[in-house]
Amino acid sequence: MTTITPQVGAPHAAILGIGTYRPSRVIPNSEVIDAIDSSDEWIQQRSGIRQRRWATPEETVQMMSVAASRIALERAGVSAEQIDCVIVATVSHLLQTPAVATAIAHELGTNQAAAFDISAACAGFCHGVAMASDLIRGGSAGHILVIGVERLSDLTDVYDRGTAFIFADGAGAAVVGPSETPGIGPVVWGSDGEQFDLIRQREDWRDVVGTPEQPGSGQMPHLIMEGNPVFRWAVFTMAKVAQQALDRAGVSADDLDVFVPHQANMRIIDAMAKAMKLPEGVRIARDIAEQGNTSAASIPLALDRMIADGEAKSGDLALFIAFGAGLAYAAQVVLVP
Ligand code: COA
Repeated sequence: MTTITPQVGAPHAAILGIGTYRPSRVIPNSEVIDAIDSSDEWIQQRSGIRQRRWATPEETVQMMSVAASRIALERAGVSAEQIDCVIVATVSHLLQTPAVATAIAHELGTNQAAAFDISAACAGFCHGVAMASDLIRGGSAGHILVIGVERLSDLTDVYDRGTAFIFADGAGAAVVGPSETPGIGPVVWGSDGEQFDLIRQREDWRDVVGTPEQPGSGQMPHLIMEGNPVFRWAVFTMAKVAQQALDRAGVSADDLDVFVPHQANMRIIDAMAKAMKLPEGVRIARDIAEQGNTSAASIPLALDRMIADGEAKSGDLALFIAFGAGLAYAAQVVLVP
């Protein structure tokens, strides 16, 4: 009987380098408060956000992704031609098809790398890292570029008191490649679709456009969120998921050097660290204060800042955990590149 030749991959995978792009427009709280009848004090107290960055028209999803990827490739010592696959996690590339990953792969100069987008909202980057690790170990690819990128300002209603001060723009990229030792732990991931409605777009494009008989809203399908239940879910459920990721990697919180949770909200970050009983010495990412919530881009942006500030260094043991719309989540232990 004919048998199919099995595919053999690398023994292990690791993150070899990361790069980021932060948009040039800095938006302090003072610029968002008037439209939502709020104050700098309220926003800082409820979310920890002091400022965020919103992209200019030139800072497109593709442009920010390419800029972040070039830095990641250089730091990893990997050329664009070595990239076999580009995975882009985003919910804010407004052209649904073709995948923006294909344009990014081309602009970077890959050799026609496989390229596709994934939609897992704030958990997208961790989904991408998990997929990249498995694709490399399964033999489907040698080196993979995982990009988390958002222009959430396009989908944010500046008059919505529950979201206008939270969402922001940016890009982060990681080169994932083969490794002699494990650099990416098992993923713990899942979704709670029963809570599908808690964070979502207000309407779909058919509602925007409407019909000749019944004209649509003509408004962008902005993001809406029920803040209170999201907050409770994130704190109570995600601390358990984080512990499972540690258990599956065979490490404990005492072994961790850095904790890089999705930068959703400073109060969620603090409450999770407390619920997990993280030892005092574990450095915690707090990029949200300067960057806002950049959904799929938040974890690489936060880790990059920690590396730049000397709070994380190559070889450190880090825990990623990300969660958001869906409600989708993913967590894994990784070695800092
Ligand atoms: N500025 C000032 N006051 C505001 C406000 C704003 N932007 N939004 C709401 N308020 C007021 C309300 O009117 C209410 O006033 P009242 O007590 O006089 O009635 C009070 O603040 C509390 O409103 P509430 O909606 O219960 O706010 P909250 O305490 O839940 O805080 C969030 C709102 C969004 C900060 C909070 O729910 C949160 O952080 N949720 C998690 C969101 C998140 O991180 N999502 C990302 C997941 S990926």
